[in-house]
Parts: sequence; C-alpha cells; structure tokens
Amino acid sequence: MTGRVALVTGGTRGIGRAIAEMLKDRGYRVVAVYGGNVEAAEQFHQETGIPVYRWNVADYAECEAGIHKVAEEVGPVEVLVNNAGITRDVTLHKMSYEQWEDVVHTNLSSVFNMCRVVIESMRDRGFGRIINIGSINGQIGQYGQANYAAAKSGIHGFTKALAQENAKKGVTVNAIAPGYVDTDMVRKVPHEVLEKIIAGIPVGRLGRAEDIARGVCFLAEDNADFITGATLSINGGQHMD
Ligand code: CAA
Repeated sequence: MTGRVALVTGGTRGIGRAIAEMLKDRGYRVVAVYGGNVEAAEQFHQETGIPVYRWNVADYAECEAGIHKVAEEVGPVEVLVNNAGITRDVTLHKMSYEQWEDVVHTNLSSVFNMCRVVIESMRDRGFGRIINIGSINGQIGQYGQANYAAAKSGIHGFTKALAQENAKKGVTVNAIAPGYVDTDMVRKVPHEVLEKIIAGIPVGRLGRAEDIARGVCFLAEDNADFITGATLSINGGQHMD
C-alpha cells in the first residue's frame, strides 16, 4: 500500500472515476476534482468515500488555490492525473471561437495549470508521477474535432517536453491515448457514426473505463521510474503506432 496522494481531474465520472477508484483500491490517498456536476460528485463521494473538490481546471488561479487546499487537507500531490476534458464536436467551417476556446482551455491549458502548480514541489521532493490523458484523436485527428484534436495533440507534445525537463528529478511524465471508451462523452457521438467507428476497432468493442485506469495505475507505480515521455495507446487496436 503506497499511501501516496493522487489527484485526478474530472475524477467523479467516466474514465476519471474508474482511475480514482482503482488508485484508491491500490492504496493511494485519492482526491477527485470536478468542474460542475454537483449531483454526480456527491453520489461519487457517498459511494467511494473519496474526497471531492470543485474548481475549474481551465482557470489558473483556481488550480493554485485548489491544489494548496488539497496539500493542507490531504498532503502534497505526488501523483497527478490530468483527465478532465470536454468535446464541442463540429466541423471547422461551422465552429465558433467559443467552441475552440472552451475545448483548448479545458483540455490543454488545464494541463499547464495543474502541472505548473505541482511541479516545483515534486522537483523539491524528488518524486512525482504525472499522467496526462490524451486521445487517439490527438494522434490521428477526427472529422468534426479540429479543436479537440489540437488540444489532445498538444497534450502529447507537452508531455514529452515536461518529461525531459524533469527526468533527473524523480518526476516521470507520461500520456495515455485512449481510444473510444464507453462513457457519456462517446455516447453523444451520432449512432451511425459510432457504429462505423466500432467496426474499425480490431478488438471489436468500445473500451471500458477500467482499461484506461489499469494503464494509469501502471504508470503511477514507484517502480515505473524508467518510463517517462511515453504515450501508452489503449484503443483496442484502432490505431497502432
Ligand atoms: N469521416 C468522413 N466523413 C464523415 C465523418 C468521418 N469521420 N463523419 C461524418 N462525415 C460526413 C457524413 O458522412 C456526412 O456526409 P454526407 O453529407 O455526404 O452524408 C457529412 O460528414 C455530415 O455528417 P453529419 O450529418 O454527421 O454532420 P453534422 O454537421 O450534423 O455533424 C459531426 C458532423 C459533428 C462531425 C458529427 O458527425 C459527429 O459528431 N461526429 C463524431 C465525431 C467524433 O468521433 N467525436 C469523438 C467524440 S468521443 C471523444 O472525443 C473521446 C475520444 O478521445 C476518442
């Protein structure tokens, strides 16, 4: 049992929930950050006992205040899982600036915000695990997702740069690129589009949130210290790189 403090953004629903629960089962002291769905967060807290904190990860000042509160109440963050993300799917010729900005700020600027706040303490302590949740669509693009693909692709580049900067400090920085996972986000994809996508997944099914959580737990381990700057694709074979 590790007892290390792990923070998961978007940690009360979908993939984030599975990550939070699996880390807890493995002995981490987990906190989950959520943005807006109070009802889901309360239910999650009641069912799991995991403390929840509400702030907007797209806002730097809120990340700073929130992470300091977590440090005081639970302890300094040792494992950071940047999972929070949204979609605003629409082709570029119909995309508003707001749809671009919402996705880039929530999915990518949030990763800067959270990492920037925790990185100095991780470096000082000589230990840290940062795991950023990217996407298959940041690797190969997706019709209707110029905003999302740009943000997720940005996460993959950010991960490699941060990994290089912190490799000598005991801090590893890795990404997971999930494929299509059975969550509320993917259920919003039009039915006929989703059918075609599933037909292109060699394993023949959508992913489960736990499939991604297992990858996070692996990268979070103390003895995963030689794995940094990597992207772990968990996509049922939909894209092989
Ligand atoms: N490739 C090629 N053509 C496509 C296409 C694709 N992937 N998707 C749609 N099209 C085509 C359609 O066939 C249609 O062509 P015709 O007019 O010739 O029939 C045309 O584009 C318009 O399609 P729609 O009627 O669907 O148009 P729309 O404007 O109503 O919606 C859309 C377009 C918003 C892109 C919609 O198709 C959509 O939501 N697609 C799903 C996008 C997607 O996969 N998002 C992933 C969400 S999950 C996620 O992001 C998690 C993760 O990390 C994997």
